[in-house]
Formats: sequence, C-alpha cells, structure tokens
Amino acid sequence: MRTQLLRLFVSLLLFAATFFHLHPTATATEGHGGGYADSDAIDYIRTSCNTTLYPDICFSSLSPFANAIQQNPGKLARVAITVSLSRAHEMASYVNNLTREAEYGANSRASSALHDCFSNLDDAVHEIRGSLKQMRQIGAAGSGGESFRFQMSNVQTWMSAALTDEETCTDGFEDVPEDPVKSDVCDRVTGVKKFTSNALALVNNYANRGIP
Ligand SMILES: *[C@@H]1O[C@H](CO)[C@@H](O)[C@H](O)[C@H]1NC(C)=O
Ligand SMILES: *[C@@H]1O[C@H](CO)[C@@H](O)[C@H](O)[C@H]1NC(C)=O
Repeated sequence: MRTQLLRLFVSLLLFAATFFHLHPTATATEGHGGGYADSDAIDYIRTSCNTTLYPDICFSSLSPFANAIQQNPGKLARVAITVSLSRAHEMASYVNNLTREAEYGANSRASSALHDCFSNLDDAVHEIRGSLKQMRQIGAAGSGGESFRFQMSNVQTWMSAALTDEETCTDGFEDVPEDPVKSDVCDRVTGVKKFTSNALALVNNYANRGIP
C-alpha cells in the first residue's frame, strides 16, 4: 500500500513537472498565434511522425504540444517519451487493478500471466521514467561531461527495454485460453506499445543527429 502511494506521489510530481515545463512555452507563443499552434511546428511534427511505425497516433498525440516542441527534435523526443510514460503508467495501474479484481483461480495460468504482465509493465514504467530523466540532463549544465552519444545510448537502451517488456506482457498470454480479460489486456497493451515504439523511433532520429 505504501509503495502504491509513493508511486502515485512520484507520478503526480512527474506530471506536474512536465506540465510546468511545457506550459510556459505554450503561453509564450499564444500572444503571436492567438492560441493556435505554429503551422511550421505542426508540419515538423507531421513529417517527423512519418518516420515512425504509427504516424497517425504519433501526430494526434504530439501535435497538441506543437507550441512547446516547435521544430526541436530533442523536445519532440522528450514529449513523445512523456506521452508513452503516461500510457504505460495508466496501463500498469489498470492491470494492477485487474490482478485484484479478476476472478481467476489463484494458480491458474491466466492469473500468473496477469501478474507477470503487471511486473513487466511496472519495469517498462521505470525504464521510460529513466529515459525521461536522462533526456532532461542532456544539454543541462553539470551533466557530468557525459557525451551526447553516451546519454542517448542510455535513452535508446531503456526505451527498447520498455518495448520488450510490454511485448513480454502480451507474449505471456500466448498459452492462456481465450477469454475477455486476456483479449482486453492484450488489445490495450498493443495500443500502449505503439506509443513506446513511436517514442523510440523519435529518440533514434534525435540520437542519429549526433548533436544535442
Ligand atoms: C509520408 O511518407 C510518405 C511515403 O513514405 C509520403 O508519400 C508522404 O508525402 C509523407 N508525408 C509527409 C507529411 O511527410
Ligand atoms: C485502479 O484502481 C484505483 C482505485 O480503485 C482507481 O483510482 C484507478 O483509476 C484505477 N486505475 C485504472 C487505470 O483503471
């Protein structure tokens, strides 16, 4: 229970920090754009999203942050990671709730797949959170002199690990007989994976530039 509360607290802080960070940029440009996003920024997001596996989801989830992103590949990647974190976090909470609610026998295969799924999603949340933290340190003073390449390789490693963990969740249901909980969880996790995959693609684009 205390772990749950702590986790909730940490995520509230994280989201507060994110909005605090994103908001000032948004209001700063509102004066010029009358509240509408800069169309160059929108085009930039559309073109960048075109390099991901799920361009429509990418564009619809990131374009609301156009004012904060502008045409900055680092900000684009960071916002994409934040969006994927929020999806993964909500999914982990959803599955955690199901482990308590689903009427599976204690030792059934379905029950253990559900528990394993939660622990994989929980790992994914931590990895995505680690990526976001690392992204925030890029270009910041006192980042220990670590190279951009090194910092980005950490972000790439964690985001791919998160994607693998999400995949492990659905793989874990392979031997479980079809049932509504299985298909509900697998469908939802498949949706969450798209956001992680897109964020990883945008992270890779940014890393490949070789400069912050
Ligand atoms: C997206 O890519 C497709 C082909 O890969 C291309 O035809 C289309 O013009 C691109 N759209 C944008 C907005 O870049
Ligand atoms: C999980 O359960 C808690 C407590 O009942 C609820 O507040 C939360 O919204 C649920 N999470 C999801 C993702 O459904």
